[in-house]
Amino acid sequence: MTIGIGLLGLGTVGAGVAEILANPEGRHPLVAELALRRVAVRDLARPRAVPVAAELLTTQAEAVVDDPAVDIVVEVLGGLEPARSLILRAIAAGKPVVTANKAVIARHGEEIAAAAAAAGVYVLLEAAVGGGIPIIEPLKQSLGANRIDRVSGIINGTTNYILSRMAAEGADYGAVLADAQRLGYAEADPAADVQGADAADKIAILTGLAYGGSVPRQAIPTEGIDRLDARDVAYADKLGYVVKLLAVAQRIDSQPGGGDKASGDPDAVLLDVRVHPTLLPRSHPLAGVNGVFNAILVEGDPVGQVMFYGPGAGAGPTASAVVADILNIAGIRQATLPAGSAGGPVGLDPLLAAGSWRRCRLIDGALTTHRNYVRLRTSDEAGVIGRIGTCFGEAGVSIQSIVQFEAHSDAAEIVVITHEVLEERFRQALDAIAALAEVQGVAACLRTL
Ligand code: HSE
Repeated sequence: MTIGIGLLGLGTVGAGVAEILANPEGRHPLVAELALRRVAVRDLARPRAVPVAAELLTTQAEAVVDDPAVDIVVEVLGGLEPARSLILRAIAAGKPVVTANKAVIARHGEEIAAAAAAAGVYVLLEAAVGGGIPIIEPLKQSLGANRIDRVSGIINGTTNYILSRMAAEGADYGAVLADAQRLGYAEADPAADVQGADAADKIAILTGLAYGGSVPRQAIPTEGIDRLDARDVAYADKLGYVVKLLAVAQRIDSQPGGGDKASGDPDAVLLDVRVHPTLLPRSHPLAGVNGVFNAILVEGDPVGQVMFYGPGAGAGPTASAVVADILNIAGIRQATLPAGSAGGPVGLDPLLAAGSWRRCRLIDGALTTHRNYVRLRTSDEAGVIGRIGTCFGEAGVSIQSIVQFEAHSDAAEIVVITHEVLEERFRQALDAIAALAEVQGVAACLRTL
């Protein structure tokens, strides 16, 4: 039974999908049953080295969705609109959707999932997080028996490439970014990657799957690598750490002071979800993930730690995930619809469809606990380290290590790593330290695992 595919977008990922569909040999036999019927592009005249017949191309994206020969709509346009409207249009027409679009799912996932559930169609998104790494389906299905404690990941290849080179070469952020743009590893407009928004979209999606309920995307505390100083990467290295842009979603069993019970929704699962540069001990499973590679570490009960590693972007890897989703839907169609049937809604597999099944909410950032790395610029005189230590001690912050790295003329740089501490206490200590006459400034402040 041939299954008609409508492709929205023929950029890097769309071309990768067309390439797989045009070359089914050696792949699962179902790939040969997939037939590209129509492809929406922005510019018909643009020269393309893709195996797609010119007569399939159209600039009318709605016509692809509406085409009766299209059974599955594949959205690889990126961006919020018209992607969101086209996905909803396909759902309304009873057509399953495969998307690689993390931004639209992170922001409009609930609306799309509700429409899909009402229409009885799948919206699958394996390619939206981690490119070629299978992580969406494992969270939905293979790890479904677990209580997930934490999902942490390096889920942006551009920033991991930049950080890996900063660590290896001692180079400045700006110089490595410029080189990465020249080599095609970073976009001409790198804002979404370097400011952390891309990783925040992806951890929002993983959170929804791992914990069974969504959190508001805009409320996820997000810090990128664009203000990272090469000195902190070098000092971290001397102290036995590597700096990575980490996206984390963690279940919090109870909020300090019982604030969780006092909230308006005490039954919701309390989560700490965030994106920021993080010092990882060199022995941490994610510390050795370098270059453009991505990795996601899932910690669950009873499975323990499971890590997923691989290429997080690019035509081939992302298309691999898109076509896997198409095959999932095609396989279900073949198993449930009699040959020659026109299709129509079928019962959805609740694991594959992965709707929300509980409420989640974010913890107040001041009530989270972390280890911290702080770099202070101070004058180089007797008693400074003692006074800094007293400020930490008086706020109840325990210090793991305190090191003076550079001292020339009368200036010094002091780096402190704290034990785990409540964020509000740590901030209280920093305010007291910043007010000391010998302290010229808090030059850097990073989370530490
Ligand atoms: N821009 C992303 C990255 C790839 O650098 O990882 C697409 O999600």
